[in-house]
Amino acid sequence: MELIETALNQSFEIGKKSLKFGEVATYIPELAKADKYSLGISLYLKNGATFNVGDVDTRFTIQSISKIINLIVAINRFGEGRVFDKVGAEPSGEAFNSLIELDTRHNKPFNPMINSGAIAVASMLVKHVSFEDMTELVQKICHDDEIVLNEEVYNSEMANISRNRSIAYLLESKGIMQAGVEESLEFYTKMCSLNVTAKNLARMAAILALDGIDPDTGEELVATRPTEIVKTIMLTCGMYDGSGEFALNVGIPTKSGVGGGLLSVADNRMGIGVYGPSLDSKGNCMAARPVMEHLSRALKLHIFDQTSPIDELFE
Ligand code: DON
Repeated sequence: MELIETALNQSFEIGKKSLKFGEVATYIPELAKADKYSLGISLYLKNGATFNVGDVDTRFTIQSISKIINLIVAINRFGEGRVFDKVGAEPSGEAFNSLIELDTRHNKPFNPMINSGAIAVASMLVKHVSFEDMTELVQKICHDDEIVLNEEVYNSEMANISRNRSIAYLLESKGIMQAGVEESLEFYTKMCSLNVTAKNLARMAAILALDGIDPDTGEELVATRPTEIVKTIMLTCGMYDGSGEFALNVGIPTKSGVGGGLLSVADNRMGIGVYGPSLDSKGNCMAARPVMEHLSRALKLHIFDQTSPIDELFE
């Protein structure tokens, strides 16, 4: 459909212009090797149609986008009651790797999208699900068995993990950790180090947009309730302390990762995957806001847009 191609190409041009204002992540040294001028955008519609522009086949580490997979698996396995007994569902208004609010304002992490919440979720999973099983699930969701651990990035993060280790010990002191600090950090960091592409993220997002159904086969890959929970928390917390403004101007549940990935779910319409390792000061892809705002407006994808011109494709 021409409208979609035009919107995609325009958003790519707009996004490209923003890249010079950001920087690649350096606190995980291996991530500093990325090319900050890379950009790829992939759309995966609910009817299985795909649209791609730019670096959509480049491999990069999924980083914090893995938090949504961990959360889905934890809810599936333990039920939402047990998960949210240990992790909150409120925006923190602090940076993704903050521990200040955990130390001074609350006895459990604010939400599962920030590091403290995600490390708590990892501690629930590590004794019950293997990293290999998690990888297989991600491969199945993305239809891509080349999604494997990026050992260089994993080792690089594990060698620079002091801040997450501090968070984990603080969680342990508050009785939140369900397994040992080291094994939980290893599990969490391995999940962050899975190599994906923008195309992979678009397909994963499409499955969330369809409440867990594979757009190509009709198979249920994820149960409905966890997908609803994850989309809700992505909308309120997925862009950390930039989540409110992003929800206002873009209005599409989105999760970012410091590897440059972005996974956006235009509910019941399409999944969007972006790769752009140039990051803003909050650790979100620099191009996220201009790209997503343009797509949202051009295609009427805001969560409160009841009709979109692309809906006629699905009739
Ligand atoms: O734990 C960390 O700091 C990284 N492995 C992931 C952080 C991240 O992706 C934040 N996102 N924008």
